[in-house]
This record gives sequence, structure tokens and C-alpha cells, in this order.
Amino acid sequence: MGYIIGMVSQKGGAGKSTLARLFARELAKDGFSVKIADLDTQQTTCTDWAADRAEAQIEPEIQVQPFGNIKTALAEAPRFDAYILDGRPHSSQQTLEIAKASDLVVIPTGQTKDDLRPAVKLAHSLADVGISPGKIAFALVKTTNSDSELQAARAYLEQTDYTALEGFVPVSTAYGSAHDAGKAITETSYRTLNEKAERLAQSIIDHLAALTAAKEIA
Ligand SMILES: Nc1ncnc2c1ncn2[C@@H]1O[C@H](COP(=O)(O)OP(=O)(O)O)[C@@H](O)[C@H]1O
Ligand SMILES: [Mg+2]
Repeated sequence: MGYIIGMVSQKGGAGKSTLARLFARELAKDGFSVKIADLDTQQTTCTDWAADRAEAQIEPEIQVQPFGNIKTALAEAPRFDAYILDGRPHSSQQTLEIAKASDLVVIPTGQTKDDLRPAVKLAHSLADVGISPGKIAFALVKTTNSDSELQAARAYLEQTDYTALEGFVPVSTAYGSAHDAGKAITETSYRTLNEKAERLAQSIIDHLAALTAAKEIA
């Protein structure tokens, strides 16, 4: 495999570290070697979470390391099946570096216009400087459960050159509690919530596989 996946957004609290932990856990559970490079050295969300997870002895253990420098972080990448770059908000420079290094860039967004517009704007700003639109994807995170609102959000995203990933993760206190306990959002106490998160993770995996297949044909 050997994928590099970047989680980026201009906004803080959008769901970057949520997606990083979700994706890392789903792959690690299936026996892939995976590591999160925690590039948000102000928050170190994933780093602290991995310590909580290790302390609670939750399997599989997830490797996370904070890096102040993306070059240092990338030096480790070839050793893993999947290497996840968890970015910091409000940093156009770092976001671009992550996008350049990644096989797939995932931008979390809620379903409101307030969230969708800046997410699409960020994607445009990356495409403008040469990032292939094909490797930019949106993940609907922290949404409502309203079908009509989700459909409208999806329709908005589908007008763009980027991918709207299948699935969504609604706001739920159970997801927040899972994180507090060192768990990923597929490890809550509620099967339906876990299945929602699994679907989004699977859609990231499927999209990566499709991108790789396209690259091999080309
Ligand atoms: N679907 C959700 N429901 C409730 N809380 C969530 C959900 N997704 C994420 N959170 C919480 O929102 C906060 C911000 O998410 P996070 O992924 O850390 O954002 P970012 O890394 O983009 O700053 C965290 O406390 C996280 O646990
Ligand atoms: Mg974060």
C-alpha cells in the first residue's frame, strides 16, 4: 500500500483529528501498519489521545508522533502501509505542504453553507497552486441527521471538481466521549454510530484504491 493521507482544513474543530484517528484505527484493526504524524503541535490532539488509548490498553495500539516539521515527518512515511498527516488549522503554508505530500487530501466539513463554503474555497486554493482536484475529497463530519440537509450539502459538493466521500458522521456526544476514552469514533457503545463512522472510513479506503488503480492504468 504505502499511502499518505492528509487531513486539512482552515477551520479549527472541523474534524481533522477525528478523521485521522478513525482512519488509523480502521486500518490498524485490519492489520495494516499505520502511523499518525501529528502536525498540530499546538493542540497535539492525536498524540494525547494515543497516550490515553495506551493507558487504557485499547487494542490495536495506534502510533502517533508529533512533528514540528513536515520533512521530518515524511522521512518515516515509507515504513508504513498508511501514513496519516493530521494538520493544524489556519496555516495555508502547512496545508499546502500536506496536500503536496499526500495521495489523498481529506477536508472535513459540516453540512451548513458556513462550513461548506470555506471547505470548497480551501480546495480551490489548493487546486489553484497545482494540487490535482482528483485527490481532494470532502468528508461530511459533525453534521445533523437530516436527510434533506445532507442531500443539499452533497449536491453543493458534487458541483465541484472534487470528491464528496460517501457516508457522514453526525454530531453525537457519544463520539466525543469515545475520544475522551482513547477510542476512535468506530468504538463507541452504539452500533449505529459505529456503523456510520465505518462507512465513512470505508469510503476513504475505496477512494484511495480507486485513485491508485487510476494511477496504475495511466
Ligand atoms: N461527530 C461528532 N460529534 C461530536 N463531537 C465530535 C464529532 N466529531 C468530532 N467531535 C469533537 O469535536 C472536537 C473537534 O474535533 P477535531 O477532530 O479535534 O477537530 P480538528 O482536528 O479539525 O481541530 C473534538 O473534541 C472531537 O472529539
Ligand atoms: Mg486537530
